[in-house]
Amino acid sequence: MEPSIVLLLTTLFGLGEGSSHNYSEGRSNRLLSLEKMFGRPAKHSQCHHKLKHLHHGARITVQMPPNIEGHWVSTSCEVRPGPEFLTRSYRFFPNNTFQANQFYYRDNHCTSPTYTLVVQGRLRLRQASWIIRGGTEADYQLHHTQVVCHSAAVARDLSQRLNQSCPGTVRIKAPWEPNVSYELWNEEGCDCSREINLSIHELQLLRVEKQYPHHNLDHMVEELFLGDIHTEVAQRMYYRPSSYQAALQSAKNHDPGCVPCRIIYRSDEFHPPILAPRADMTVGLTGQWVSQRCEVRPEVLFLTRHFIFHDNNHTWEGHYYHYSDPICKHPSFSIYARGRYSRGTHSSRVMGGTEFVFKVNHMRVMPMDLAITSLLNVFKGNECGTHGSWEVGVEQDVTLTNGCVALGIRLPHTEYELFRMEQNAHGHLLLYNGQRPSDGTSPDRPDKRATSYQMPLVQCSASSQRSEVVGGEDEDQPLRLSNGGTRMTWNQNRRDVVVVLTALVLLFRCYS
Ligand SMILES: *[C@@H]1O[C@H](CO)[C@@H](O)[C@H](O)[C@H]1NC(C)=O
Ligand SMILES: *[C@@H]1O[C@H](CO)[C@@H](O)[C@H](O)[C@H]1NC(C)=O
Ligand SMILES: *[C@@H]1O[C@H](CO)[C@@H](O)[C@H](O)[C@H]1NC(C)=O
Ligand SMILES: *[C@@H]1O[C@H](CO)[C@@H](O)[C@H](O)[C@H]1NC(C)=O
Ligand SMILES: *[C@@H]1O[C@H](CO)[C@@H](O)[C@H](O)[C@H]1NC(C)=O
Ligand SMILES: *[C@@H]1O[C@H](CO)[C@@H](O)[C@H](O)[C@H]1NC(C)=O
Repeated sequence: MEPSIVLLLTTLFGLGEGSSHNYSEGRSNRLLSLEKMFGRPAKHSQCHHKLKHLHHGARITVQMPPNIEGHWVSTSCEVRPGPEFLTRSYRFFPNNTFQANQFYYRDNHCTSPTYTLVVQGRLRLRQASWIIRGGTEADYQLHHTQVVCHSAAVARDLSQRLNQSCPGTVRIKAPWEPNVSYELWNEEGCDCSREINLSIHELQLLRVEKQYPHHNLDHMVEELFLGDIHTEVAQRMYYRPSSYQAALQSAKNHDPGCVPCRIIYRSDEFHPPILAPRADMTVGLTGQWVSQRCEVRPEVLFLTRHFIFHDNNHTWEGHYYHYSDPICKHPSFSIYARGRYSRGTHSSRVMGGTEFVFKVNHMRVMPMDLAITSLLNVFKGNECGTHGSWEVGVEQDVTLTNGCVALGIRLPHTEYELFRMEQNAHGHLLLYNGQRPSDGTSPDRPDKRATSYQMPLVQCSASSQRSEVVGGEDEDQPLRLSNGGTRMTWNQNRRDVVVVLTALVLLFRCYS
């Protein structure tokens, strides 16, 4: 549901950063830019309020280096590429060892456990990641991997499968029993974990965030983000994470509304967590949806999203706000896309998922920093708006040039999507759409349709109509400058400032 952005930008981000010389200057530019980005009617709607909140990153603190000691648990039934349905319970000890329990299930609500993997080893934190800013790299060593099956059928099936493909170890003399722990890997070098597609590379990238939801200083929620899993099962063993999975929460400091957290916290490999059964929600896209956090994409993109779905005529609009930093403070460019969508059937592959097809046939791009602006201007020919005409803060329609080659976007574009919906502990509707392929391509064929999901969006309005409250009183004083009704751009403002400064300098010269 989104153009896949080919990153030529990686090296340029550094440039963008270097060009904001001065904190106070950077700050006022940022405010102007955000206002520019969200447009005028924006400020009074709930959706923009939510987004703006994210852009300031105010409620989140990031620990560098992260302190991961303690017990961390999943907040819901997770879906991994495959699909695999699982919950996780990871403990990190003061002596740098860890025990990671992964509980696998037959169903998408995690009510029917099949087997549990218990992985023990040692973890060593390394340097701050230079691939994913805000993350920390780590190395691990495995000491033991054990499996416990939760039914006779699963035990028989898994032992037969491992016996066939793992003949060197010939450890499986009799079929396995349920509720008994078997070693898959040990320091003597027997490794059967590949057959069950076990990879714990997620431990190579970590990030800990603390936040105070609802501005309540008495209640802190601590989250541990671990590296993402490749969307191709066969690539999983070789993939070094370049974004994150759904966060685990600290068993000590979790959201009090998180019932699964408590169930998972109390579990072990012989007593796997069994979550409350619930019905799949019918996916109803209508309304508006926004990101709940600053999201990370593989290949160093930070972004927030805002979607509007018009059920009456099956059209959609998407705003993608891209940033150069992990707390979404420094905008780099925004994309507006729209088109049509059609609903398919329930997924036969991913339990609980519903298939959709999305088309993009209209797009606008707005560069928000100098790095992206130069990038867009460098590209020759008529391949991204009007050649050489890009300016910071000025949006251009790129529909007529069939998208934007510089950003790797070609129009018209079709994507095969997977959706699911859920209600969170606070009664808000959450919308999950398909994980983007880890190889950077887009799901432009039915067989490339996702089998897992991205971080969910939250519904911010049940109506797809934008609230056009015009003439209301501004709350944010610094924004007024760009909100005065003229289409004054960031660039013009800046130019004016430069002109004034130059004039002042000349005056001083004259007098001295
Ligand atoms: C930031 O601006 C102030 C004046 O407002 C100046 O004194 C200071 O040197 C500048 N800092 C940098 C890093 O340019
Ligand atoms: C590390 O600490 C854990 C928990 O206290 C303990 O079970 C384990 O044996 C220790 N490992 C080593 C190598 O000291
Ligand atoms: C494992 O394989 C060996 C040889 O192929 C066979 O003799 C044995 O019965 C198998 N064990 C199980 C539990 O299937
Ligand atoms: C599995 O074994 C544990 C103790 O080892 C026991 O408490 C539990 O009830 C057993 N579960 C089943 C399903 O038999
Ligand atoms: C491991 O992945 C392969 C696909 O690469 C799949 O066929 C197989 O069922 C998976 N094994 C388990 C135990 O899920
Ligand atoms: C679809 O409906 C929405 C709202 O009802 C409207 O704003 C939009 O222009 C319509 N789009 C098309 C292509 O008809």
